[in-house]
Amino acid sequence: MSKRNIIAIVGCNWGDEGKGRAAFFESQDASIIIRSTGGNNAGHTIVHKGKKYALHLIPGGIIHQNKLNLLCPGVVIDTDVLIEEIKMLNESGINISPEKLIISGRAHLIMPYHKDLDRLYEHFKENKVGTTGRGIGPSYSDKVNRTGIRMYDLLLSEEELRDKIAIAIKPHNILFQNTGYESCIAYADKLAKKLKRNGQFLKNFIGNTDVLIRKAIEEEKKIVIEGAQAFRLDIDHGDYPMVTSSSPNASGTLSGAGIGPKYISKVIGVTKAYCSKVGNGDQFFTEEYGEEGNIIREFGHEYGTTTGRPRRCGWFDCPNIRSARTTMGLDVLCINHIDTIGKIGNELGYIKVCYAYEYNGEKINYIPDDTEITKQRPKPIYQIFRGGWEIPKDCKIYEDLPQKAREFIEFIEQQTKIHVQYIGLGADIKDTIVK
Ligand code: IMO
Ligand code: MG
Repeated sequence: MSKRNIIAIVGCNWGDEGKGRAAFFESQDASIIIRSTGGNNAGHTIVHKGKKYALHLIPGGIIHQNKLNLLCPGVVIDTDVLIEEIKMLNESGINISPEKLIISGRAHLIMPYHKDLDRLYEHFKENKVGTTGRGIGPSYSDKVNRTGIRMYDLLLSEEELRDKIAIAIKPHNILFQNTGYESCIAYADKLAKKLKRNGQFLKNFIGNTDVLIRKAIEEEKKIVIEGAQAFRLDIDHGDYPMVTSSSPNASGTLSGAGIGPKYISKVIGVTKAYCSKVGNGDQFFTEEYGEEGNIIREFGHEYGTTTGRPRRCGWFDCPNIRSARTTMGLDVLCINHIDTIGKIGNELGYIKVCYAYEYNGEKINYIPDDTEITKQRPKPIYQIFRGGWEIPKDCKIYEDLPQKAREFIEFIEQQTKIHVQYIGLGADIKDTIVK
């Protein structure tokens, strides 16, 4: 068998762990960088050579010159957003051509009516998910219902496309008609016209990502998969129903890319030194609602890249990472914001790390999944670290880190039984320590 050289980068919590940054770091010596799950609900910020790029669809690898970036079959694509992103990158001096970007023809589209449906479904839910409103769930629903429109459909004639859309929108229009959402009623001819215009712009980027991946595997080239969303947002393994509509766990990320598990050389789980979440759901057990939460939010600048919403904040959660280790097959961790948590410790005089829960009168070391039945909220049991730290300038190797920061990291390693290989000390990838 050929040498395995494929790295999957996945989020361990509720998203926004710094997956884009970790993938950008890993992709420095890669040939192919892939996005394979979710859509523009993701917001991946990359800082490189003093410039900041906020990306939602295209992998951050595009910022490196001469690498191939793929949007694989598992993603859902809003073509307006994709075109905007390509234009934005072109304007920043990163020229986007089909040599650098290929989009799977099998990837499904987010249509304007999906965004309307996203709003409508949220409106009628008593417990609102707090989606990003980008039409993600309805697009995946149509895909599963086999009425999705795909990238390849942009290559059909306008008439063929119109007929396909007409079938897809029938049930949606009945719903809009009967729920006071008449203004959202979709028209196949108008949509087909608009999509064909976008198709004209995108047609040279549409292709078969499988053959490109196969060639790279055969040539033993390095491939990096930039995961989106995260473990707790996974449709099967997350905090259902407060989840996204895809499978951002490691296996789902591979499946969306079209790569079998035997080719993977390493799964990197990305987390921050604390936790954050946007959207609703009460299964964030280490969340802090008062002063502590506010300080974490301010010091970590925890406001959404995609929606600008203030993020809910709390402490590092080892039981969750323990679950992520097996469910996602994590090999190593990347912990970002080690600089930030040190500052938080300096401000508050302490840092907390949850290593177990008290639940139904017992001490448990995993995330319980029957909380709706028991109505009991697991109570985090914390290890308290006194004080904080300041990261010295020119901190290049692990031994350069302050003793207290190393104690914090080693406590997490000991509790989760995962090696912390990457340590993030700032937004730029140059501020990364590899242990
Ligand atoms: P990245 O890749 C954080 C959350 C939304 C909401 C739930 C469902 O940047 O980590 P959706 O629009 O997907 O139907 O919303 O999932 N969510 C994210 N939260 N980071 C993300 O992506 C997210 N993608 C979806 O806030 O709670
Ligand atoms: Mg994000």
